[in-house]
Amino acid sequence: MPATAPPRSPLATAFRTHTCGDLRETHAGERIRLAGWVHAYRHHGGGLVFVDLRDRSGLTQITFDKDDSPADVLETGSKLRQEDVVAIEGVVRIKDKPNPKLPTGAIEVVVDSVEVLAKTAPPPLLPSDEDTLPSEEGRLTHRYLDLRRPKMQHMLNIRHQVGAIARSYFHQIGFLEVETPILCKSTPEGARDFLVPSRMNPGQWYALPQSPQLFKQILMVSGCDRYFQITKCFRDEDLRADRQPEFTQIDLEMSFVTSEDVMRTMEGFARTLWQDVLGVEVPEMQRITYHDALNRFGIDRPDLRYGLELVDVSDIARRTDFKVFTGALEKPRGVVKAIRVPGGAAELTRKITDKYSEFVKTFGAGGIPVTKVIDGPDGPALEGGVAKFLAPVASDLIAHMDAKTGDTILFGADTYATCTRALGELRQKVAVDMKLLDGPDAIKWAFCWVVDFPMFQWDEETQRFFAMHHPFTAPSPEDVGRFMAADAREHETVESIVSAGYDMVVNGSEIGGGSIRIHQQEVQKKVFQLLGISDEEAQAKFSFLLEALRFGAPPHGGIAFGLDRLVMHLAGTDNIRDVIAFPKTQTGADLMCDCPSPVDSVQLDELQIKSTFTG
Ligand code: AMO
Repeated sequence: MPATAPPRSPLATAFRTHTCGDLRETHAGERIRLAGWVHAYRHHGGGLVFVDLRDRSGLTQITFDKDDSPADVLETGSKLRQEDVVAIEGVVRIKDKPNPKLPTGAIEVVVDSVEVLAKTAPPPLLPSDEDTLPSEEGRLTHRYLDLRRPKMQHMLNIRHQVGAIARSYFHQIGFLEVETPILCKSTPEGARDFLVPSRMNPGQWYALPQSPQLFKQILMVSGCDRYFQITKCFRDEDLRADRQPEFTQIDLEMSFVTSEDVMRTMEGFARTLWQDVLGVEVPEMQRITYHDALNRFGIDRPDLRYGLELVDVSDIARRTDFKVFTGALEKPRGVVKAIRVPGGAAELTRKITDKYSEFVKTFGAGGIPVTKVIDGPDGPALEGGVAKFLAPVASDLIAHMDAKTGDTILFGADTYATCTRALGELRQKVAVDMKLLDGPDAIKWAFCWVVDFPMFQWDEETQRFFAMHHPFTAPSPEDVGRFMAADAREHETVESIVSAGYDMVVNGSEIGGGSIRIHQQEVQKKVFQLLGISDEEAQAKFSFLLEALRFGAPPHGGIAFGLDRLVMHLAGTDNIRDVIAFPKTQTGADLMCDCPSPVDSVQLDELQIKSTFTG
């Protein structure tokens, strides 16, 4: 392009004076240059072609017009197709009919010079057409086209903002950004490791970090005081809508703190994020204990945007002859719980509640007994479903559940673990079916801290305890004495010890988790002992941490936020792949790069690795 116009925008380059989102009425009459993709075009016949030119910042209408554009320019303009890359020069003109939908809608650029920078092959995905998108597989295979969509650019932009706000917020309060290794020793966060063979040390392996947990603790021993990092973590685990094998944490650690200090600081961060990105004021976050969360919501990451609480009705159920209830109550830790669904009688048809029964079966429950509350002769009464089995206790049940005419009551009857899990999952489904998340009165954001997690949980299958957070989590200050005296054979006592861990939850999703750490060697050794990790195993796995703890470790604690999950909430998507530029599929594949993929046998020979795979 001839260098006729001086650069005007901070984004100006040799190809453009402005971006496609810049121009307004005030630019009328100016000679400008733009570069971008052909988003859409319209041929009006008689020598008039309109093109919407797109770059990351937006769209501008450029006009090829036989009266104002040279003939060869008009001819080139009329041959442009969607996703061609062009640079143009022309004059900004006020439009006769402004387009109020576009920020640049008041103007058009009349083109007098055009250069096609790249012609496109017919694209399998048109960024301008949200209605005819291919499957997600197609989008991921041609991710560069998918990312051109304004919606995806918005996701990338929010992700960028979250990173920038995090850096600024934590920098201002004395956090130091420190990078930690990607090739390291396995850290036990509960998932399988991704392993990397070492060519220089045949037969030896690195693990990709599941998190920088041990490094950040060692940085505290190093006197770093406040550490922060936006970092990749790798976990070889089953994937879900909010899980990726390779994800990003905003990882933090602080010295000389209690859990209150950490929670206050992190709450401030979450509040700043929501304020700066969405303009939303997050109120002070309520706290809920792990046991309360399970009892009332059936899950340790409760969605507090709506009620539908689980109510224990075991004592009432015990007074019936209903086999489903009495049978469950005979089981060890058997319970009967119920959810009252206000107005459910009209909404939750038999077909829907039958589906609920099928749904809870996937969590090991037998089904969902249901009844409705109707107007009886002496006030609310039960009718339909299992009402006939509940006749002797109907009025007590109605009073206990505070049930009103028009409500539906859903029951769960099983062991505590199965019943709470099944009803906890069902509760979320019911909220959607009852449209409790939509409408002007729905609560949009419900944050909470879940605290007082047990330190250990017994696993029947492997017949051993495992750490609920990770084995470096300290017991809560009130429980240190009981912890140090605990005997691994006394399961109930060990399971009753409360940790100094905390999770931040928004709308039923865990966006961050952390704890106060153990900073004394003998306390750390006690954890390993209760977990059945021998001295030799502890030495082999974490000798560097145990060694560091010998040399004066400050009391410390921290947290890691799931950055991808934060962005999901802020961008309003429930698919984690939407917020990652190049994500993996449910089976861990990158469809664009086509990996994982076989490697050359020479590479394997160099690593002294032989594959036993024969498939
Ligand atoms: P935790 O394992 O709870 O803690 O992870 C912290 C946060 O990371 C996010 N997260 C994930 N996001 C996407 N895909 C995944 N597979 C995935 N796994 C976890 C969640 C979670 O809350 N080292 C500790 C932190 C600490 O104690 O400071 C840790 O990693 O949002």
